[in-house]
Amino acid sequence: MIHLTRAGVSLVLASLPAAGADDDSASGLPVVLHWGAALPPDEDVASLLALHTPGVPFSALDRPRLRGVVGETVSGFTGTPGLSGHRVPGSVAPRLRSWTWTSYDDDAGDGVRLVSRDDEAGWEVGVDLRLTVEGLVEMRTTVTNTGAGELVLGQVRNALPVAARATELLDLTGRWTRERAPQRGPWRVGSHLREARHGRTGHDATLLLAAGTPGFGFGHGEVWATHVAWSGDHAAYAERTVAGECLLGGGELLAEGEVVLAPGASYASPALVGSYAADGLDGVSTRLHGWVRRTRPLTRPRPVLVNTWEATYFDHDLAGLTALADAAAAVGAERFVLDDGWFRGRRDDRAGLGDWTVDRDVWPQGLHPLIEHVHRAGLDFGLWVEPEMVNVDSDLVREHPGWVLRGRPSALPDEWRHQQVLDLRHPGAYAHVRDALVALLDEYPIAFLKWDHNRDLVDVGAAVHEQTAAFYALLDELHLAHPDVEIESCASGGGRIDLGVLARTDRVWTSDTIDAVERQRIQRWTSLLVPLERLGAHVGGPVAHTTGRRHTVAFRAATALLGHLGIEWDVRTLEPAQRDELAGWVRLHQQLRPLLASGRLVRGDHPDPAVVTTGVVAPDRSEAWYVVAMVDSTLTEGPAPITLPGLDPARRYVVRDATPPGEQATGFIGTSWLGDAAGHTASGAALGALGVRMPVLLPETARVLHVRA
Ligand code: GLA
Repeated sequence: MIHLTRAGVSLVLASLPAAGADDDSASGLPVVLHWGAALPPDEDVASLLALHTPGVPFSALDRPRLRGVVGETVSGFTGTPGLSGHRVPGSVAPRLRSWTWTSYDDDAGDGVRLVSRDDEAGWEVGVDLRLTVEGLVEMRTTVTNTGAGELVLGQVRNALPVAARATELLDLTGRWTRERAPQRGPWRVGSHLREARHGRTGHDATLLLAAGTPGFGFGHGEVWATHVAWSGDHAAYAERTVAGECLLGGGELLAEGEVVLAPGASYASPALVGSYAADGLDGVSTRLHGWVRRTRPLTRPRPVLVNTWEATYFDHDLAGLTALADAAAAVGAERFVLDDGWFRGRRDDRAGLGDWTVDRDVWPQGLHPLIEHVHRAGLDFGLWVEPEMVNVDSDLVREHPGWVLRGRPSALPDEWRHQQVLDLRHPGAYAHVRDALVALLDEYPIAFLKWDHNRDLVDVGAAVHEQTAAFYALLDELHLAHPDVEIESCASGGGRIDLGVLARTDRVWTSDTIDAVERQRIQRWTSLLVPLERLGAHVGGPVAHTTGRRHTVAFRAATALLGHLGIEWDVRTLEPAQRDELAGWVRLHQQLRPLLASGRLVRGDHPDPAVVTTGVVAPDRSEAWYVVAMVDSTLTEGPAPITLPGLDPARRYVVRDATPPGEQATGFIGTSWLGDAAGHTASGAALGALGVRMPVLLPETARVLHVRA
């Protein structure tokens, strides 16, 4: 029996003597009895097990049925099998009867490793369950082939039980420029299954699969949520069985024959990460954000960056880009990122991918003159790359046609954005791209790589598992060679966002749309998993390139303020008033970014969907910033009162409007306390319960509120 408890969460495992086991209960079948609210440390687990052992109904196995830590069909579990695979000739799945339990603890948390074997079937199975310092559960399964012949792995699924009172499900879907749209509904008997077959995480990936008590929101309700920490094909599911089990599970989605284990070989699943909170989705996110911040700490403040993509696209020339760097410096930017178009033959998106040396026609002296200018202007330098991709029209493919990833000898996969995938399973291809990247980082003082991946893997055979592992290895090798280089995970916007990649990169490109209305929603839901300071959030031009909507500087900037701020606008064209206004927002971001990178995210639950409130509260709750955005017109005359969550109920705070001045003018109609420069005082209790009354705010405007104890 094991009871792990941390940060308000308990994970309880009991041991059940399994039918036919020749061992006693000390090494019997492990059952996760409880994952959820913390229980007293001296809880009597044996007694809990007795209280939770179901009766034996008439039409059933002649023993009480409790699902073990692995969902075993051979033991009568009728939901999604935890393990599947086959050997010829031989069994389909192991029968795991006797387990060894080994507890451990380390800096990351407390855990237990459970191991079982089926010598007849030739499987050894290890299940690791860890409760991290943030109160997250990490579950991993390792399979080793202990038989004589090959073991063809089917699927390996980790699953965690949740309370039956969690009767509502929430997950996310999406597409290019509309990532992470929420969907929710009742949790019925059966499986709600989300499979992703993109060869990358996918724009439609559900970052979290959440189950909660009816009506749960950001700030209320009991919620259990799981995430599959993997950047390739994966499955996530919620399952309610007729036997009464309620499970959230998932794993890598393996193609047939994708993993074939030779005798003695092993497969390790990605982690299924579970986050429980008694107080809504914000609590779920707090734990996950803590995990990301611990696993991949940031060593310096996030520099405000300017990115060339929507400013110049493929139009690269030294004079124009140095002018852009100067204009960026004038609004306070600290990093200049040269996007797509700098490398050999890359004049548009039909050629060049794979040839990672600087195009001498455009850059006769390489990138040195540009980078030196950028440095003189006081900015550091970042560069766009897409290492896993090739164009057929590239020297690389002309020299090594066999390095293109393909599922059949007779034809290449269909093109997608005119590109193909480099087969990183090929040692020559892997070494080539690694060496090309290292050569760039050796030659140029590059502080940041925007690492893109602009197509799905289609018709590539059973290659995604190894391709994904090679991508991780590439990131790990580069990090060893150049530990100070920050990396952004981009995939046509937000197509590769998951904890596998977040453990190896420093921020994500949230979406290719920087339309502020779209971004308010996309960032809100992406932040379920990703801490705000790692969400790439840019101020675009007045008219959004992806939607045609026109927005004020203030609405665009307020929307990017609580992310990793960037500018993706041709700032050479700014009128002086626009420049001053934008510079004011950059200064505000620089002022609040230390708090942003350490604080707790709170998202308001407002009855009117037009109102989107995002806040970040200092760890000691002495201070907080809130952005109140109107993504539509409100139903009422002025939005209903806006609560400011996350403050200390016992302290008194000064609330004031901190929106930098500019073309938005006031953004509201009539008079309001927002105009009172000194602000007003209220308790954290009042601000959390009554909130503040805003005036009639125009649609597609936003205000910034600062709250200080
Ligand atoms: C992807 C990225 C964009 C940009 C282009 C360049 O679409 O998401 O931000 O870098 O590629 O080709």
